[in-house]
Amino acid sequence: MMLQGGDKPVTVREIRDRKGGGPPLVCLTAYSANMARLLDPQVDLLLVGDSLGMVLYGRDTTLGVTLDQMIAHGAAVARAARRACVVVDLPFGSYQESPAQAYRNAARVLAETGCSAVKLEGGREMAETVAFLAARGVPVLGHVGLMPQKVNSLGGFRTQGRAEAEAAAIRADALAVAESGAFALVIEGTAEALARDITGEVAVPTIGIGASPACDGQILVTEDILGLSGDRVPGFAKRYAELGRAVEEAAAAFAEDVRARRFPGPDGRGGSARTGPDSASA
Ligand code: KIV
Repeated sequence: MMLQGGDKPVTVREIRDRKGGGPPLVCLTAYSANMARLLDPQVDLLLVGDSLGMVLYGRDTTLGVTLDQMIAHGAAVARAARRACVVVDLPFGSYQESPAQAYRNAARVLAETGCSAVKLEGGREMAETVAFLAARGVPVLGHVGLMPQKVNSLGGFRTQGRAEAEAAAIRADALAVAESGAFALVIEGTAEALARDITGEVAVPTIGIGASPACDGQILVTEDILGLSGDRVPGFAKRYAELGRAVEEAAAAFAEDVRARRFPGPDGRGGSARTGPDSASA
C-alpha cells in the first residue's frame, strides 16, 4: 500500500505526517529518468542519493560528487517521477560551511531540479543549518548514524552506535536534527536497538537503511536490490532481481549475433517490438 493512490504527488508534509501510523514508508534511490519511471508507481519517496558517486561513477567514496552532478541527476529523476516525493542529496562541501552556503546551494537544487526537498548528513553540528533551511522553505531530510560523507573521520563504513557513548551521541544528533525542523530522518548503519530507540523518541518518521525494522520506513540503494552493484553490496540489502546477470547474457547474445552476421537481419531490422526506422534510442 502506498501513501495515496493515483498520480497526485506525495508531499513532504504527507511523509512527515506518517509518523507512527499506517504502513512503513517505501523509499528507493534513483539516479536516472528511466529508473525513476519504473520505480515511481511503487514507492513513496525517491532519493537521488550522492551514493551515485560510487554506484554510477565507480568512486570509492561519495566525497567527490559535485553539486552540478546532483542537479543533473536530480532533474532527470524529477522529470520522470509522477507521484513519488523526490529528494536530492546535498553533496560533500556544499552545505557544511554555513547556513547561508547551505541555503544558496539547496535553493539551486530545488529551483533547477524541481525536487521537493534536500537531504543532508549531520547531527547537532547541522541543527542550526536545518532550522535555517526549514524556516526559509527548504524541506530537509536528515541523515544520522553512518554518514558516508564523514567516512574519513568515522574510520570506514562501519556500524555506528555499538559503544554506549557513540550511541548516546547519535541519539542526541537525531533529536537535534528532528527538533530543528527536518521532516524525516534517515538512520543509516546503526545498532538495531539504537535505531529502534530513536524511532520511539523523535516526532518525525525515521527511514532506516541497515538500521532497524522498527523504523517508520525503509530505504535501499536500488542497484543493490537489482543485482547491479557487483560485489559492493552491503549485507543488509536484499536481492530482488539479478539484472546484472541478465545484462551479461543480453550482451553476450548480441555479440554472438553480430559475429555470426545474424544481426541486423536481411531487411536491416532487429525484430524488436519497437517499430519505425527512427525508433533507435541513440
Ligand atoms: O546516498 C544515498 O543513496 C543515501 C541512502 C543510502 C540513504 O544516502
